[in-house]
Amino acid sequence: MSNLKAKKSMFIKENLGIYVHWPFCRSKCPYCDFYSQPVKCPNEDELIVQYCQDLEYYRSLNNNYKVQSIFFGGGTPSLLKPQSIEKIINKVLQLWSYSPQLEISLEANPNSNHTHLFSDLKKAGINRLSLGVQALNEADLKFLGRTHKLQDALQAIDEITKIFDNHSIDLIYARPHQNFTLWQQELKQAVSFGLKHISLYQLTIEDGTVFAQKGIKPLDEEKAAQMYNFTREYLKAKGYPQYEVSNFGIPCIHNLGYWRGEDYVGIGNGAHGRLHINNKIYATTHHRLLEELIPQDRAEELIIMGLRILEGINKQRFKKQCGLIFDTFINQQKCKELAFQKRLINTSENLRPTSSGLLVLNKIIEDLCDS
Ligand SMILES: C[S@@+](CC[C@H](N)C(=O)[O-])C[C@H]1O[C@@H](n2cnc3c(N)ncnc32)[C@H](O)[C@@H]1O
Ligand code: SF4
Repeated sequence: MSNLKAKKSMFIKENLGIYVHWPFCRSKCPYCDFYSQPVKCPNEDELIVQYCQDLEYYRSLNNNYKVQSIFFGGGTPSLLKPQSIEKIINKVLQLWSYSPQLEISLEANPNSNHTHLFSDLKKAGINRLSLGVQALNEADLKFLGRTHKLQDALQAIDEITKIFDNHSIDLIYARPHQNFTLWQQELKQAVSFGLKHISLYQLTIEDGTVFAQKGIKPLDEEKAAQMYNFTREYLKAKGYPQYEVSNFGIPCIHNLGYWRGEDYVGIGNGAHGRLHINNKIYATTHHRLLEELIPQDRAEELIIMGLRILEGINKQRFKKQCGLIFDTFINQQKCKELAFQKRLINTSENLRPTSSGLLVLNKIIEDLCDS
């Protein structure tokens, strides 16, 4: 590298995402194993002061970043006061340099809606709103233990599409007794809202949840795969190309950062992060604990995350991120077999999953990391 190039690269700031976790919810949904408490936050103002101090701490560890995204996730961050959200956003902007296209997302529940909530969130600085709709019929909303009604969801969708330029909804499908035709109708309705992005998650029954305790079984695998394949084709035809296992449309910059293995600061109970300090990569927790990641572990997480997106893993970036050579790290024989079975596309630049590969991602990852 010439001296000039070396000097220049020292000043190139790395991308950074900021994840702000707000762990409070109105009630606990029976399928959810995210870290969340069904209580009203007793000390929001104090917590926001702590969140700002945590941001200062992480900034003090490495200043060579440019913030690309801030994501308020949960729990239910739409229960936060808009003033609290504004304080956090301002703190981030004060501490770091940031991209002119900075994406600032917030996950909202339809029933945390009070008059002006969405316009207040926009004034606070939110420019992408993601709404947890989960189902578009009354019976399934009830089954999923949601506290909102269909009408609340429809009204909230109408408001977010009017107020924000960038918006998304989450739906959970492959519900135990879900009928394929009804799912087709729900999808059709979801597309009719004119959203920029749609997240569609297959219901998973997680240990320790009320659904698991009740012995609720997921939908039969074949039926779920039929729904998944239809969903991908239908959304593509309607202008929502798939870019990740469960995500369609204009990509969420924040989540893309995770899948590409970029660094992020995580604040709030239950949040974690990935940060470079003196050229070493650390996993961080909300207790400000730092744990250095060894190259093998880092490489595995880059593969787990990177194969979720259709663009796949960029081999040059992989080398930069964990110091290992991609083609020698993975199990070459298994990779060849998977490419032959058309589960993967392997080029000199990247390794990408095919549509059929996305259906068996866990097995692919196991095979590739089996040395
Ligand atoms: C952090 S969670 C919840 C965000 C927000 N509190 C809400 O409930 O809308 C993000 C998304 O994960 C999905 N999700 C959570 N648990 C799930 C499960 N067991 N199976 C499938 N999707 C799930 C839901 O679609 C949810 O909107
Ligand atoms: S799904 Fe959302 S609202 Fe329900 S318990 Fe989980 S985080 Fe809270």
